[in-house]
Amino acid sequence: MAKWTAEELVSFVAKVLYEVVQNELTLDYAFQKVKRRWRALESFKVFYDASFDAVRHYYFLRFAASKLFGSSGAKAAAKAWFLYRADSLLYNKELVARYRKRLLKRALAKPEDVEKALEELRGDPARYLSVKYSYHPAIVETLLRYLPLGEVERLLEAGNTTWMWLRINTFKVDVDKGLKLLEQEAEVEPHPHIPFMVLVKKASKPIQYLSAVKTFAAIPQDLASVYTVLALDPRPGDSVLDLAAAPGMKISLATQIAEGKLKVVAADVSRKRVARMRHLLKALGAYQYVDVVHADSRKLAARRFDKALLDAPCTSSGAFTKDPGVKIYPRVERARQYSQLQLQLLTRALQLAEEVVYAVCSILPEEGEEVVSKAGARAEKPLAELAPSYWGDIGGRTFPHIHRSEAFFISRLRP
Ligand SMILES: C[S@@+](CC[C@H](N)C(=O)[O-])C[C@H]1O[C@@H](n2cnc3c(N)ncnc32)[C@H](O)[C@@H]1O
Repeated sequence: MAKWTAEELVSFVAKVLYEVVQNELTLDYAFQKVKRRWRALESFKVFYDASFDAVRHYYFLRFAASKLFGSSGAKAAAKAWFLYRADSLLYNKELVARYRKRLLKRALAKPEDVEKALEELRGDPARYLSVKYSYHPAIVETLLRYLPLGEVERLLEAGNTTWMWLRINTFKVDVDKGLKLLEQEAEVEPHPHIPFMVLVKKASKPIQYLSAVKTFAAIPQDLASVYTVLALDPRPGDSVLDLAAAPGMKISLATQIAEGKLKVVAADVSRKRVARMRHLLKALGAYQYVDVVHADSRKLAARRFDKALLDAPCTSSGAFTKDPGVKIYPRVERARQYSQLQLQLLTRALQLAEEVVYAVCSILPEEGEEVVSKAGARAEKPLAELAPSYWGDIGGRTFPHIHRSEAFFISRLRP
């Protein structure tokens, strides 16, 4: 039997929604904040999953709530979550049926009326898709500017899935051993072309508790992040500068691919994140190959490198498969500020290396195509597997409906 009631679950979800929508917190931060003030429960897993799902479907829930309960506030949206989504998440079907019945009894309209109202939006594709798949209208409008309607719909639908990719850390185990370890606790699908990447299809426990993950034999890393490193093409003997390196996920993969035979400088401006990077690199077994530097890379004084990686600070508006909060609040208005910083960092990277890979976890052209086209360098799409960029051959993009990944822009530039 559940040790909580449906009302409590709805209240909890409403509070998380409020924190994400009104205070612009990330889902995880909002969840922790609400949890701290909640009465003790044995496990908050259901509460976390429900909150994640409600944030992911927020625009639709808000729309449904205004029809059903005459309000688009967080509490009404949380009730709509229960009506529409609880069945797919909760095992206790009796509890779901009972509370749904109560909610429907008090509702001002029927779920069929919500469907009808949604259909009526079809004439305005941006609004229709924004409500149906729950994305901030600015995300949908941006995509519709560059991609055909059918493709935008496939992308938005796929963006409501989380793919858990793991990278086998060959500093700890070889790929075969890593796979065997993972297969003891999870159902995994190896990537068809990238031997050290596996997709977790089903696991006996949360990913972070799998023994391969606890021992750093496998590390959660999105495929888009891996494509960025493949674009850099690190080879034994290369000298590599990472200008925005913390916490070190990409640079550790670069050293892994080159079997530790790179000369690497990894810089980052955040002291806290540099400390995390040292810790992570040590845990992964990659620390001895990397020279970690705390610096503002716009002013970095260094020798010349063969290759540079700039995984730029950004709005993270392409991270919606992992953090559904960015679908509600994609910080679009901050893209302009970021693009200035991105261009300054890219300019410095081009002064310091023969070849630069520029990557950004953003669906906005202001942070991708626009930055590389202002850099005054030859820019190209670095990997055939990438989708075309919004502006042609100056870079490529990863998308959830094509790559089962986050949405990144990736380009290779030569001064
Ligand atoms: C997208 S994150 C990098 C993630 C990292 N490449 C990885 O794969 O783990 C962007 C990083 O840029 C850093 N950053 C922002 N401004 C910077 C600057 N002026 N110089 C150096 N690093 C900067 C941030 O502290 C942040 O760690």
